[in-house]
Amino acid sequence: MCSAYSERWGVCVWFTGLSGAGKSVTARALTELLNKRGREVTLLDGDVVRAHLSKGLGFSKVDRDANILRIGFVASEVVRHGGIAVCAAISPYRATRGEALRMVGADRFVEVFVNTPLGVCEQRDVKGLYSMARRGEIKNFTGINDPYEPPMNPSIELETEVLSIEENAQRIMEYLEGQGFVCAAAS
Ligand code: ADX
Repeated sequence: MCSAYSERWGVCVWFTGLSGAGKSVTARALTELLNKRGREVTLLDGDVVRAHLSKGLGFSKVDRDANILRIGFVASEVVRHGGIAVCAAISPYRATRGEALRMVGADRFVEVFVNTPLGVCEQRDVKGLYSMARRGEIKNFTGINDPYEPPMNPSIELETEVLSIEENAQRIMEYLEGQGFVCAAAS
């Protein structure tokens, strides 16, 4: 199933989930595992993309959709040239994630749902944004006063309360190996 030929196939690993769910840390852990296998990765993280490619965009539906379509476009170019794109943005709208999938190609798109419950994200509140949203200081905050549409049929669903970041990254690696996108480590 896995060969030097299949290693040249590109793939997009698309993380979706609430703010604070663990998308970025898991995406970084996956990137490290892929790097250790000698694979280059283009990491497109929402927070970073919003500082560059999507600078100036806010959190209305129109702006979020523009953000996701830009990430999807870059990912599709990376994948088209045989690279690995790891994308981590809330991407709250199912239809817009679907557009990203169509840009990349369904057979090259791995959707990872980081299914950390809202209560847990809110309790962690790493950036303090949930409490600000609860106080009404941030409008359109995903999960509080803005929608999040979970995937109906993700390739992988992660529960970050049960498994560690490394274990979750390893699960994704095993999936990528199983699909032939990455060759299993030589034993
Ligand atoms: S997305 O909806 O367009 O996919 P993206 O992942 O790029 O969002 O950015 C989300 C990050 O922006 C959050 O992790 C949080 O740090 C910050 N943020 C600021 N305002 C909001 C908001 N209203 N809703 C969600 N996240 C916000």
